[in-house]
Amino acid sequence: MNMINKYSFALALCMGILFYTKAQSQVSLATEAKINNIIKKMTLAEKIEMLHGNALFSSGGVKRLGIPELTCDDGPLGVREEVLRFDWKSANWTTDSATFLPNGSAIAATWNPAMAHKYGVVLGEEANARKKIVMLSPAFNICRMPLCGRTYEYYSEDPFLNAQLAVQAVKGIQSQHVAACIKHYAVNNQELNRNSVNAIVDERALREIYLPAFKAAVQQGNAYSIMSAYNKVNGYWCAENDFLLNKILKKEWGFKGVVISDWGGVHHTVASAKNGLDIEMGSSGPYDSWYFAKPLLDSVKAGLVSEKLINDKVHRILWLMYQTSMSANHPKGSIATAAHGKAAYSIASESIVLLKNDKNLLPLKINSIKSIAVIGDNATRTFALGGFGAGVKAKYEVTALAGIRSRFGKSADVKFAQGYNASFPDQKNSQITNTKPDAALIDEAVALAKKCDVAVLCIGSNREYETEGADRLDLSLPFGEQALVNAVTAANPNTIIVLMAGAPYDLNEIKRINHTIVWSWFNGTEAGNALADVLTGAINPSGKLPFTFPASLHDSPAFATNTYPEENLMANYKEGILVGYRWYDTKKIEPLYCFGYGLSYTTFTYEKLNVQKTGDKQATVKFTLKNTGNAAGAEVVQLYVKQQKPLVERPDKELKAFQKVYLKAGESKEITLKLNKEAFAYYSEKQNSWIADAGKYDVLIGSSSRDIRASSNISL
Ligand code: BGC
Repeated sequence: MNMINKYSFALALCMGILFYTKAQSQVSLATEAKINNIIKKMTLAEKIEMLHGNALFSSGGVKRLGIPELTCDDGPLGVREEVLRFDWKSANWTTDSATFLPNGSAIAATWNPAMAHKYGVVLGEEANARKKIVMLSPAFNICRMPLCGRTYEYYSEDPFLNAQLAVQAVKGIQSQHVAACIKHYAVNNQELNRNSVNAIVDERALREIYLPAFKAAVQQGNAYSIMSAYNKVNGYWCAENDFLLNKILKKEWGFKGVVISDWGGVHHTVASAKNGLDIEMGSSGPYDSWYFAKPLLDSVKAGLVSEKLINDKVHRILWLMYQTSMSANHPKGSIATAAHGKAAYSIASESIVLLKNDKNLLPLKINSIKSIAVIGDNATRTFALGGFGAGVKAKYEVTALAGIRSRFGKSADVKFAQGYNASFPDQKNSQITNTKPDAALIDEAVALAKKCDVAVLCIGSNREYETEGADRLDLSLPFGEQALVNAVTAANPNTIIVLMAGAPYDLNEIKRINHTIVWSWFNGTEAGNALADVLTGAINPSGKLPFTFPASLHDSPAFATNTYPEENLMANYKEGILVGYRWYDTKKIEPLYCFGYGLSYTTFTYEKLNVQKTGDKQATVKFTLKNTGNAAGAEVVQLYVKQQKPLVERPDKELKAFQKVYLKAGESKEITLKLNKEAFAYYSEKQNSWIADAGKYDVLIGSSSRDIRASSNISL
C-alpha cells in the first residue's frame, strides 16, 4: 500500500468507526424515544399482559398500540413443528416441515464458529418463515455430568469452546432479525430433579466455568433474550435469582434484553419481579392466574412491586421487538430450502469424529468393495423427533443406510440387517432399556456380515433414550448392542463401528476389540450423506470431541465427588473449577477418549513455535502447521495455557485459543493465535475480580488436550 492509499484507508476506517458508532447511537436514541412514548400510552393492565404467556408459545401484545404478540418456538434442533395454541398436540400444519439441524454437541465437535453461525442463520431464516420472533436456542449449559439427558443439546465441557460457538450461533440467528434466547441460565447440568435441585456452586466455578458462554453471548453476541433455568443456584430459583439476573446479567454485563422463564419455572410473583425475571412462560392455563398475570397486577396495586420496574420489563420487550418483529426491512425468511440442507450437510460433515482407524480401513476403496452389510437399528432410524424434548418435523432426513446406498449403491450390493431391537420394557421410562441381545437379529446380522466385504455397524442411542427431563442411568450401550458388536466383529474382519449419539458412552470394549470407530451424532437432515462421504473419503473427518469420554463413570467429577445424584435435592459442585478435562488432567486420570480428540485421514506437524509477549499480559503465538499426508484435510489446532507455579488452585491446563485450519496435502501455513489477559486469569473471590498473577506460563499447542505437539513458555 503506498502512502496515499495508506492514509485514505486509515481515514476511511476512522470515518467508518465514527459513522458506525454514531449510527448505532442514533438508532438507539430514536428507538429509545419510541419505546418511552409507547410505554407512556399503556395502561398498567396492558403492560402486565406483555409479561406472561397467553398461549404455549406467545406472550401478549397490545393491539390498540400496534404491539404484536411476542411469538417464540423451540430450538435448538430446528424450528419446532406448530403445536396447538393451548395444547402440545400437533396443529397438523402442512407448511411447517423444517430443516433438522445437527444437535449441539455435533456443532461443538466441528470446533468451527463459522458452522455455529451457519446454524444460526438457517434457524433465523426458518423462524421468519414461520413468523416466530424468538428462537429458544442455542442451549449451551456446561456438560458437567456425562449422563445428563440434554448433553446432546448442549455443546461442551469447556467454557471457552462453548463461548466461541454460542456467540456465533446467536449472531447467526439475530442476523435474520430473530431474537436468540440463550438457555438455560444457569447451572442446569442435570435433568434429574431439574425442577427442584439446588446447585451449590462456588463463585469462582460460576465465573470460570458456568457463566463465560452466557456472558460472551450477551456481550459479544448481543443476545436479545435469555431463558432462566428450572433449578435453584445457591439457594434461589433461577427465575428469581437476584445474583444471577440482576447483579451479574443486567448490571455487570449490561444486558438490555428480556429474561424469559423456562416453561413453568416461576415460583413467586414478587420475588421474580424484583429479582430480574421479565416474562413468565409455561405450559398450561388459566393464564390469568399465573404469577406474572393478575397476581403481578395486584402486587403493583398493593405497592409491593413498583410500576417503574414493570416499565423496565416492558421496555426490554419493546427493545427486543424493535430489532425483530418491528424492525425495518424484516426478512421474509425461507424454510427447508436446498441451501439450508446444504448448510446442515456442511455442519454434519465437519462434526463427525474418527475415533480409531488402526487398519487404515477408512476411507473405503469404493472400487474394490462389492458388498456392504449395513447393520443396526440406527442405520434406518431418524433422529429429528423422539423423547420428551423439542424436535423438528424434518422435511427429509437421510438415514445412514440411505446415505451409504446413495454413495456405494452403484458399485456395491448394500444390504441391511436390523441387528438389535431398540425397545423399552417399561413404556413410561425411557431410561430403562431393553438390554437383552436379540439372538435371532444377531444371527441374521452375522450371516449377512459373513457374506459381505465390509460390515458397517450403526449403533449408539436414539432420541428416546437421550431425552430432556431424565438422565441416563449409566454409560453402557443400550439395547444389547455390545453382544451384536462382538458377534459381527468376529464374523467380518472389516467391521466398522459407527456410533450415533449425543453424549459419552462406555466404549471400552469396542475400543479394545475394534480397529475402526466413527462417531456421528444426531446429525440432522443430511446425516446419512455426511456419514457416507466420510466413509468414502469424500470428506476427510475433522471433528474433535467436545467433551471427555471417561474410562469409567466413577472417574468423572460428579461421581468421584459423590455429588450425583444429589443429596436432599442439593447438588454440591464439590469439584469446583475442575470440570471435564480440567478434572481428568489435574487428577491424572486417564480417560477413554480425551477432550479435543479426533483423527484424520491425513497427518499434521506443528513446527517453529514462537511465543512473543506483545503487551501487558498479552502474547502472540505463532507456529507452522503442515499437512504431511496424502489427503487434503482440516486440523483443529488447540492452544492450552498452564501456570507453572500457581499460588492458587489452577487446572493442569486450560483451552485458551483454537482454530480450524484447512490444508491441501503437503501444504503448510503459519498460524497466529492471540492471547490476552483473560487467557492467563482466574477469578479471585477475595478480590472480586479476574487476576493474572505474575509468573511463568506454559503455552501448549496440539491436536487434542493430551496430544500436545509443541510447548514454550512466557513470563508475565
Ligand atoms: C425446556 C426448554 C424449552 C421449553 C419450551 C422446557 O421444558 O426446558 O428448553 O424451550 O420447555 O418447549
